[in-house]
Amino acid sequence: MSVVDEIKQKIDIVEVIGQYTALKKAGRNLTALCPFHSEKNPSFFVYPEQQTWHCFGACNTGGDVFSFIMKKEGLTFIEALRLLAQRAGVALPEKVGIPAKEENEELYRVNEAAAIYFHSLLLTAAMAAKAREYLNGRGIAGKTIADFQLGFSPDGWEALKNYLKDRGFAEDVMLRAGLLVRAEDGRSHDRFRSKLMIPIRDIRGRVIGFGARVLDDSLPKYVNSPQTAIFDKGASLYGIDRAASSIRQKDRAIIVEGYMDVIMAHQCGVTNAVACMGTAITEAQVNAVRKLSRNIVLCLDADSAGEEAVLKTAGYENILGSEIRVAVLPEGKDPDEVMREDISRWHDLIEASVPLIDFMFERTASSLDLGTAQGKSALATRLLPVLAEIGDPIRQAHYLQKLAALAGVDMEAVRIALGRLVRPASARRGRTSAGETGLPVGMVNRTASREENLLALVLQNPELVPRLGEVSPELFESTVNREIFLAFRDTGDVVLLKERVGPLLGEKVEDLLRRVVLGGRDNLNLKFEDCLYELEKEHLRGLAARQGEAGELDIGITQRLKELEARKRQRRPSFRRNTR
Ligand code: UTP
Ligand code: MN
Repeated sequence: MSVVDEIKQKIDIVEVIGQYTALKKAGRNLTALCPFHSEKNPSFFVYPEQQTWHCFGACNTGGDVFSFIMKKEGLTFIEALRLLAQRAGVALPEKVGIPAKEENEELYRVNEAAAIYFHSLLLTAAMAAKAREYLNGRGIAGKTIADFQLGFSPDGWEALKNYLKDRGFAEDVMLRAGLLVRAEDGRSHDRFRSKLMIPIRDIRGRVIGFGARVLDDSLPKYVNSPQTAIFDKGASLYGIDRAASSIRQKDRAIIVEGYMDVIMAHQCGVTNAVACMGTAITEAQVNAVRKLSRNIVLCLDADSAGEEAVLKTAGYENILGSEIRVAVLPEGKDPDEVMREDISRWHDLIEASVPLIDFMFERTASSLDLGTAQGKSALATRLLPVLAEIGDPIRQAHYLQKLAALAGVDMEAVRIALGRLVRPASARRGRTSAGETGLPVGMVNRTASREENLLALVLQNPELVPRLGEVSPELFESTVNREIFLAFRDTGDVVLLKERVGPLLGEKVEDLLRRVVLGGRDNLNLKFEDCLYELEKEHLRGLAARQGEAGELDIGITQRLKELEARKRQRRPSFRRNTR
């Protein structure tokens, strides 16, 4: 399996896209306001089963997780690959041929310089007086400000930009670090203005990004660095640089939600606290902590968002084998407040934490009426998928028994129900290959092979290069195929193509060159047209099917399909007899 496939298997497109836009369920799929253009009604769809996305609105485009990240973050394919590989915990082979090292060095350096700049302003600048007052009002001590290198970003549009320029940093580096924003007119300006600046560091202490808080009650409360080559919010933990050794010593990690919670925790001596920065905790985050200690306490709000975060985590516990416990905060309070009011109450709260699965039992059971058959069945329906993921058979048996007791049925019934489960969680995350999970592979694989049929044909027959202009890149749903297509269209030469795409995609190119194209080199033009026709038809049919699921959106797909067939008949009246 290629690294690209491995990454795709380990990453859930829903989780990735969900970090950019609020996804809502729409039948088997999810929908949202398109993150690429502004709109009032959602025309953006995510298809978990196929791990693809599509915007039926102004963008009228779609693809896989790579094309999403590329488009959203303005990254090249290789940059997106690197980012998602890190996130998936997949090691990229050395030979991938990315000049990543020096490139990223620059990003760390520019972030470090920015952190120093913001920090010194906070300590001394007159314009930062309100920030100093704010911190003072929240009870944050001078030592804490220094330890966390808190800072202040000035009000202007180019203060940081000019400062960094004077220190020899290129604008392009500042942009790639997310410190600047490029406006529509092409000019760039400071992303963070008039904010309390919180540098986010990785476990090695390098500044990877910033959280920036408004100094009043305005919204949004925080602006964060965007995803960059070195910053992936969903895979990072705020405070890990300062908490790591304490987590190891205490053999316990406490995960809270907010920056301010971590800062206050450390000030109060709770030095093993890190923050998941507001989003539902991800597997990558749990994985990072688990290297330090297997004992993890998730400390989350009493409100529903907190619970949601926990429920999403459920499947991870067993995969990782960590002892994840949950501590629930008092209604309406966050750790910062609890600790400041009464630190002993905080310690009690942590001691009272319960194992994640027990927590889920409690929550689920308390939301149902277990006196009714319906309630019992709902309990089993919700919990069994979680229990199915427990790797250790003894632990699993323990919880199955607990379920049987709660539902008032015998173990046998629970075991039968478990046996019928298709393990939706692992299927959703694509841990097994599509073929094994009974997913509608037809669309994915057949589309891929049509894409590859066309690619193989043109790569093996360079005389077809002049016709590549007839092929819309949109037809390639697989980003890998699309990249190869675009590079070949640009270079028109297999050797240059391989140079251009580097060793990683080069392997795929080799593979395409080795494929047997039926019928040899006769009738190349007709073959090209057939391949293109098949690909277009498949693409339009796929769109039509998804559009059907999406509801009433009319974008004339049926019409386009009809036109396609008509063109085909015109070109080759005898087509039906010849090919089928
Ligand atoms: P909180 O609202 O709990 O933030 O959101 P907080 O850190 O406790 O901030 P204070 O105490 O109100 O000052 C938890 C985390 O969610 C992320 C941040 O990482 C925040 O620390 N968040 C929240 C954002 O990224 N953007 C937002 O607009 C809000
Ligand atoms: Mn708070």
